[in-house]
Amino acid sequence: MGLILESSFFNGVDKISNEGCSSIVYALSDKVAYKRYRQTDYISSKFARRSEKLDLLCEEKIDDVIIPTDKVFRRLEYCDDFYLTGHLLPRVKCGKIRNLKLLLLSFFCSLSDKALHLLEVEAIIKRCHESPNYIVIGDTNGSNFLIDEEGKVKFVDFDNVGIGDFPFDVGSLYTSAAQRIVPSAKGQDIDKVALGFMVMDDLCKPRDQLGIRTFAYAYSVELQDISDHIDMLDVSKASKEVFRALISDTTDRPYVGEVIREISGKEGNFLVKR
Ligand SMILES: Nc1ncnc2c1ncn2[C@@H]1O[C@H](COP(=O)(O)OP(=O)(O)O)[C@@H](O)[C@H]1O
Ligand SMILES: [Mg+2]
Repeated sequence: MGLILESSFFNGVDKISNEGCSSIVYALSDKVAYKRYRQTDYISSKFARRSEKLDLLCEEKIDDVIIPTDKVFRRLEYCDDFYLTGHLLPRVKCGKIRNLKLLLLSFFCSLSDKALHLLEVEAIIKRCHESPNYIVIGDTNGSNFLIDEEGKVKFVDFDNVGIGDFPFDVGSLYTSAAQRIVPSAKGQDIDKVALGFMVMDDLCKPRDQLGIRTFAYAYSVELQDISDHIDMLDVSKASKEVFRALISDTTDRPYVGEVIREISGKEGNFLVKR
């Protein structure tokens, strides 16, 4: 059971996410955000056992992870013409650069600074993985990692997370690529590979006669080419070995922290040759 917020409630309430996706996030106050879902068949079926999953999530207290808090506004039922209702979240007050995606794209942020933020991402993913409820992120992508006013990274968006018996959903290009390119990776290992692909793209893009080649390019145009792609990355031999171990059929798949730490020690930004 739970309360439903009618559409009229949201008139004049600030939106803090972009419209057009399957949900809208509102700022209810300085401290509280509300995530509200559009009514689509996809959302309805995806959230069939949602309340149970939220119960499990609400038991979690993981540093820098923003978990839904309410037991009241969580009913996902047809509410009015367009929307299902949603849930309350502690609100992250963001700094000038709102999320990791924008930071990673920024020409004004040095490569080492980007790497330091990605180290925080890795630490958050590890903390989730260590949770007794067996969490899989499923949606490793820059816009799910917000940057607060103090510059700290926070993970939001548990819609695709797997927890306990609830399976994860594929929420990002990197997760989908991890599944297709490294089929031997299962569960939390998929998060490790997805983070690795994100790091390849954002910290170690290779340059060749075609210009800057992204992981997405390698993935979409030359799916078989991931090994060659690793050869061309702009990182040390040791880091390439980490990436090779990441995509190999191993039971001991590494996190890519070693690679990120190497880059965090370097000066210069994207425009400056290292
Ligand atoms: N707790 C929060 N505090 C502040 N902003 C948030 C919060 N949760 C989400 N947002 C904003 O809304 C955006 C979309 O939220 P997210 O949960 O990732 O939804 P989506 O399902 O659209 O991916 C985020 O990128 C962020 O800008
Ligand atoms: Mg998201």
